[in-house]
Amino acid sequence: MDQGRIGAGMVVLETDRLVLRRWRVSDAGLQRTLWTERDPRVPLHRRIDADGRPSLDDIEDRIRRGDPDASMGLLAVERRDVGDVIGYCGLIANDHGQDGEPELAYELLRAVWGQGYATEASLAVMGWAEESGHRRLWATVRAWNSASRRVMTKLGFVETARVDRDALHGDSLFYVKDFSGSDSTASAP
Ligand SMILES: CC(C)(COP(=O)(O)OP(=O)(O)OC[C@H]1O[C@@H](n2cnc3c(N)ncnc32)[C@H](O)[C@@H]1OP(=O)(O)O)[C@@H](O)C(=O)NCCC(=O)NCCS
Repeated sequence: MDQGRIGAGMVVLETDRLVLRRWRVSDAGLQRTLWTERDPRVPLHRRIDADGRPSLDDIEDRIRRGDPDASMGLLAVERRDVGDVIGYCGLIANDHGQDGEPELAYELLRAVWGQGYATEASLAVMGWAEESGHRRLWATVRAWNSASRRVMTKLGFVETARVDRDALHGDSLFYVKDFSGSDSTASAP
């Protein structure tokens, strides 16, 4: 994956209700709240540990350092009217497809779920990916994650035959979006 190709450094995406932009240190509180709100089925490395890490300071440091989690292709999602940051949406590197095809990722505060924000933010990110020359996008969703699976459907992603089995955290389903409009690629790579 060419990191520069999907780097979020200078990108600003705008939708009717949202601005997607690079991270600021002041967004660390929002990021930590996302960590605290994660479903118990989410793997432990993405959950707050017994020592309370990552702490707010840890997350601020990551944003300052430009840690991949914070800055690679994941953009802060800000509401235009309220001016608050409600989560992230963007692109992450993976090896699911070919030629560095990236993966769509999103996570929003529970307080704002069900208002179409993930779909709206994702459409902007998909436009960005297509304009950047990507022909396909991937996404992985746990089988239990009904809301995210619904978002996939609304975005026109197609479920592939690939499933990574995980009895502990839930099976991961692989989805693909082909910008040419063909779903003939909806098979495991
Ligand atoms: C997945 C997530 C980003 C969705 O955000 P959102 O802003 O609520 O999404 P949207 O409002 O655009 O769409 C959600 C859709 O799922 C539906 N939905 C919500 N909960 C559902 C459930 N339990 N079962 C079925 N559908 C559900 C909503 O009704 C909506 O569909 P609709 O527009 O047809 O009514 C949000 O739930 C989240 O942050 N979850 C935790 C992080 C996560 O799972 N990230 C994705 C990892 S793959």
